[in-house]
Amino acid sequence: MITPDQLRTKYLDFFKSKDHAVISGKSLLPENDPTVLFTTAGMHPLVPYLLGESHPAGKRLVDYQKCVRTGDIDEVGDPAHLTCFEMLGNWSLGDYFKKDSIAYSWEFLTSGDWLALDPRKLSVTVFMGDDNAPRDDESATHWKSVGMPDDRIAYLPASDNWWAAGPTGPCGPDTEIFYWVGDGLPPAGSNKGTDPANWMEIWNNVFMQFNRVDERTLVKLPAQNVDTGMGLERTVTVLNGKTSVYQTEIFQPIIAAIEHVSGYAYGTDPAKDASVRIIADHVRASTFIIGDPKGVSPSNVGAGYVVRRLIRRAVRHGKKLGIEGSFLAGPAMIVIERFGGAYPELVENRARVLKELEREEAKFLETLQKGEHEFEKMLPNLLRNPQKIMSGRLAFKLYDTYGFPIELTDELASENGMKVNRPEFDEAFKKHQELSRAGAEQTFKGGLADQSEQTTKYHTATHLLQKALRMVLGDHVAQKGSNITVERMRFDFAHPAPMTADEVARVQAIVNEQIARDLPVTMEMMGLEDAKASGATALFGEKYESVVKVYTIGDFSKEVCGGPHVERTGLLGKFVIQKEQSSSAGVRRIRAVLE
Ligand code: ALA
Repeated sequence: MITPDQLRTKYLDFFKSKDHAVISGKSLLPENDPTVLFTTAGMHPLVPYLLGESHPAGKRLVDYQKCVRTGDIDEVGDPAHLTCFEMLGNWSLGDYFKKDSIAYSWEFLTSGDWLALDPRKLSVTVFMGDDNAPRDDESATHWKSVGMPDDRIAYLPASDNWWAAGPTGPCGPDTEIFYWVGDGLPPAGSNKGTDPANWMEIWNNVFMQFNRVDERTLVKLPAQNVDTGMGLERTVTVLNGKTSVYQTEIFQPIIAAIEHVSGYAYGTDPAKDASVRIIADHVRASTFIIGDPKGVSPSNVGAGYVVRRLIRRAVRHGKKLGIEGSFLAGPAMIVIERFGGAYPELVENRARVLKELEREEAKFLETLQKGEHEFEKMLPNLLRNPQKIMSGRLAFKLYDTYGFPIELTDELASENGMKVNRPEFDEAFKKHQELSRAGAEQTFKGGLADQSEQTTKYHTATHLLQKALRMVLGDHVAQKGSNITVERMRFDFAHPAPMTADEVARVQAIVNEQIARDLPVTMEMMGLEDAKASGATALFGEKYESVVKVYTIGDFSKEVCGGPHVERTGLLGKFVIQKEQSSSAGVRRIRAVLE
């Protein structure tokens, strides 16, 4: 048996032995990236370096990263889909390329010193080629030379073997590695192309050579990079001879906690089993999101809305298991206990996680009550309908206005001898989804980690603003978050009271003075402790590497930061604060533009 802790350690040790520097994974909530709600892959915090910035830890990196992908929340519950997962990753920033990357993967997976997986149960896919790039014969040749049989190599199109984190940003062809989860040994000729259901993807090696600037433009990157991601949960699954992530010791204790509170024995009823898996995944994801150093609370916007949906969906499935009242704290405590070693922030934020979960559960239970009450008010009218059909529009109103789930409306209707007009509801729901999807797509419009000149200017303006705030309000001002688009910047900081008009004016004037002085912006790499000792501001609660970049703006500001920045402050233009308002308790938010 191999535990998740052991796999993490082995992975880091293997790549350390290949001269990779271990860097720490980052927050689940990306800083300075307005385009995505969560960190979706190990490469996400490394985007600037894949695009050409130098990384302070060098050209060979390895880490483990917690990730959240919310694309198919509604499909979670099957044996392999997870909302929240861990990715083990190694990178070459313009150092080794396909040959070594493939050789490292093969050695780590099959060598008796490392994972010792049976090579006969491995297969791979490579890119079949299209208008953007040719067929990846190079990767196929390297696979063959380490010992992969011809018939275990499938050539697949871009939908399978071209990897990009978003509509724009670094991307390239990839080669994916699969493990056989069917019975016995795979038959000759079996691979992902011929027999997709029996092969589980465990690792993806992306050869990032391009930057997608927009829909039509693919630009060659300055360097050829490797970005790999191994799914920790899936690899633990196959290493322990299992076929579902939920059978592993990652999920078994969480499932046991759900069995305990519901009295339901997992494995007896397929529909209820799916509910247990959904709760297990969602409680783990919510615990990680709320327990992040930059953790968010359930709300109606952005990442907060995602946590709200996860919690509410878990509660709803709890009801299906016959659970009344709040119950997520128990399984959440197991998550904290099991993952607190690798992610100490979960332990630090334990009280907050439990409080937020309980608060949101209570709120949702209240919503459910309100919905039921509204339904009862509608009932006399509904019963007058001779066809015993409840209109889909009314059911949608309960959903849209009170957040009342359609499944519960269905249940209430049938208890009263009625049926909901589902096609009508589905149509209203689809329209609503299209509208919200259009909203979500806006979030991606700027592309991943937008590196445009304008956003770079805003990054530099953020440093000037932070220092000016400290000069005017005091040293307690600490950055709590920032969000930049090409049009504006937002900056959240700790400060107990609203700023006065005079304070706002002084801060704005100080920033504009520094712009007028046309100060040089310079970067230096140093040890984290040296950086702090030199007076550089660092984000409290953020994890840094042992060597960091420090950006200095003339004699004015010094901050630990990944960059990039403009070369001189004179390039920024005029800085205008548009709004100063509350962001949350004890945190103020400034919205500003460069004109
Ligand atoms: N970035 C690649 C992935 O997430 C490795 O699959």
